[in-house]
Amino acid sequence: MQLRKAARVILVGAPGVGKGTQTERMLKRFPQLSAISSGDLLRENVRNKTALGIHAEAIMKEGNLVPDSTILRLIMNELTTRGWLTPAQPTKPLTLNSVAASVNPLAALSSAIPFEKEDNYITPAPSKDTKYDYSESPDASFILDGFPRTAAQAEQLDAKIPINLVVDIRTPTEVILDRICNRWVHAASGRVYNTTFNAPKVPGRDDVTGEPLIQREDDKPETWKARLAKFEETSMPLLEHYDKLGVLWRVQGNSSDEISPKIFDEFKKRFGMAH
Ligand SMILES: *[C@@H]1O[C@H](CO)[C@@H](O)[C@H](O)[C@H]1NC(C)=O
Ligand SMILES: *[C@@H]1O[C@H](CO)[C@@H](O)[C@H](O)[C@H]1NC(C)=O
Ligand SMILES: *[C@@H]1O[C@H](CO)[C@@H](O)[C@H](O)[C@H]1NC(C)=O
Repeated sequence: MQLRKAARVILVGAPGVGKGTQTERMLKRFPQLSAISSGDLLRENVRNKTALGIHAEAIMKEGNLVPDSTILRLIMNELTTRGWLTPAQPTKPLTLNSVAASVNPLAALSSAIPFEKEDNYITPAPSKDTKYDYSESPDASFILDGFPRTAAQAEQLDAKIPINLVVDIRTPTEVILDRICNRWVHAASGRVYNTTFNAPKVPGRDDVTGEPLIQREDDKPETWKARLAKFEETSMPLLEHYDKLGVLWRVQGNSSDEISPKIFDEFKKRFGMAH
């Protein structure tokens, strides 16, 4: 299915709601879409020892979280490399300060990173006010994963390149809980049982060895509920932010198979070719 304009999408949903599954299916259905994951970008930049990667790694080695501004820069760097984002013609002439900032290596680390690879000449340090032009070509379509997770992050991103569809995926809590907490594993062999669809012959015991089955930490109801509470706390303001901008769309369903066709339809309506 071909698109007629650029789709810049994020999926929001509780842990276990199946965002990964929906992303995979959308990429297959709409080949012009790319998945861009902030986590993957971070790992790749660290592995490649880019200036940003070295900077981020140093922060992580100190046991700190990589700040939003760095994650945003990773994403913008990627979009720039793909040619989907270009710094707009500067409206202000270069000042002595901005030149000094991009020559000073320390300042450069914190401010001038996105364009250092492309340009040998001095570029002004991107600041909050630096404007970018973004491509509206359908080939510049992406699902962004991992960022933004908070309203503050969303505002920073939107100032550079606006997300134009936020899919809020809803599945009843008890349905997700059932799905997750049904999973039991035999630790030694890795055999997975599913108490509804693939139950062990003897409850709580591995079919082959008869040894007790365990529940992974992530599959325990308490663990999931704690993650859910955290998700709800940060996602509520995020969704409100996008609702105000008129790009929020909610989809409901009990399973990925029920949800996918609804997403496809909506996506076609918004971004698909008219015929
Ligand atoms: C990392 O290096 C690989 C191989 O050279 C390259 O394909 C990839 O685009 C690089 N990624 C980044 C983020 O620098
Ligand atoms: C259990 O099996 C059903 C059907 O295959 C599946 O929908 C569900 O996600 C499975 N649950 C787990 C925890 O693997
Ligand atoms: C979805 O799950 C809820 C809660 O278990 C149930 O009440 C509802 O009937 C289900 N809907 C569908 C379409 O299966």
